[in-house]
Amino acid sequence: MRVLVVGGGAREHAILWKLAQSPRRPQLFAAPGNAGTASLAENLPVPADDLDALADAARDYAIDLTIVGPEIPLALGVADRFHAENLRIFGPTAAAAQIEGSKAFAKRLMRDAGVPTAPFAVFDDPAEARAYVRSHGAPIVVKADGLAAGKGVAVAQTLNEALAAVDAAMTGGAFGHAGERVVLEDCLSGPEVSVFCFTDGEYATPLAAACDYKRIFDGDHGPNTGGMGGYSPPPWWSADLERRVRETCIEPVIRHLARQGAPYVGVLYGGLMLTNDGPAVIEFNARFGDPEAELILPRLANDLLDVVDAALDGGLPALDLRWSGDCAVGVVLASGGYPGPYETGFPISGLREAAESALVFHAGTASRAASPNHDQAANPDATDIRAATDIRAAPPVSDGGRVLTLVGVAPTMAGARAKAYAAANAAAFRGKQFRSDIAAFAASDC
Ligand code: AMP
Ligand code: GLY
Repeated sequence: MRVLVVGGGAREHAILWKLAQSPRRPQLFAAPGNAGTASLAENLPVPADDLDALADAARDYAIDLTIVGPEIPLALGVADRFHAENLRIFGPTAAAAQIEGSKAFAKRLMRDAGVPTAPFAVFDDPAEARAYVRSHGAPIVVKADGLAAGKGVAVAQTLNEALAAVDAAMTGGAFGHAGERVVLEDCLSGPEVSVFCFTDGEYATPLAAACDYKRIFDGDHGPNTGGMGGYSPPPWWSADLERRVRETCIEPVIRHLARQGAPYVGVLYGGLMLTNDGPAVIEFNARFGDPEAELILPRLANDLLDVVDAALDGGLPALDLRWSGDCAVGVVLASGGYPGPYETGFPISGLREAAESALVFHAGTASRAASPNHDQAANPDATDIRAATDIRAAPPVSDGGRVLTLVGVAPTMAGARAKAYAAANAAAFRGKQFRSDIAAFAASDC
């Protein structure tokens, strides 16, 4: 079986790592992948958002199954394109992926399906949005409707902040077309948790829960990032809460999308807030989270290929999908300066030591150009021919904002945390930064 994973981050590395454990021994491909995926898969020089090139690659490489990591190809309709060409793909259609691609779509869906979510209003006209903000008062949450790489949400504590956020999105072009429509919603409060299930369009598997850390600095200071780490499961997550969230927040939207003729097949990601009135949905995403995938896939007891096959071909309810009782803690190593401007191209050392205690998932990494001259010059005493000729033998270099996700897995959260931080200290590159307070609640048990 030949399986292609679309994307090039740590989430996709984790998907490939999990696929590589399948007893069916699939032959793996990544588009475009990174230096880490190259050890498990053949990296194809195909951008994740180029639908023509992805479909060509699926045909040229006789791919039996394509699994999509990031949201952009899904929003662009990669699943529809593959279906039209009779290529097998796991991920929602563009119609169903609007659950992430349009916050207005998601909010209306939740309202119509009776899913608890913050009261809201949708605006295309900046003057009307400003008038609503003034009449509502602060705090209020301002959200760009479209995909904004996680940056389109402002939780405004004052009227001025809210009005500035409306202007930035609707007239300032801060998020391009994605901000021309905004959703304004009431501010909720409570602990946040992300939940994930596989669905065949009707049935939702048991949920895995994880918490992530979005801010760059310890104590949740500094600007938002793609995610600096996380843990799974939260210590307070319970079978009762799982059932309640599945029944009130997840199953109703899956049923509603199916009734609308846009069945959702793929991984559904719910971002929840546990308010005093019960769980409420903050947002839906049409994919695994990153870093959440790196935390929950090591806890998936089933063969991922079996799960995906069942979601596509039937049999998901009978599969007995289980999440292990293990704890996972992930620490992201980022480039200095991220999420602002940063430099790349720095060699990464200590990966072997890191892998002794934790799972090492690559995000922004690249293989250094395999130039024998370069390697010889850098290491004139090198006697290992392979080191000079095999691109995979060269140490990878940093090539993005988030560089590595290091995941400790253990029976206790304290044990998982100790492993993740041992690896975070072992792996090194110039300018490396990481949070020291991921799963800090477990630190005292270490
Ligand atoms: P989103 O991109 O929708 O996940 O929003 C990003 C973050 O904004 C969430 O993780 C929450 O912390 C916060 N947020 C979004 N919506 C609300 C809300 N209605 N009330 C309070 N905080 C919110
Ligand atoms: N960890 C947040 C996301 O993947 O959207």
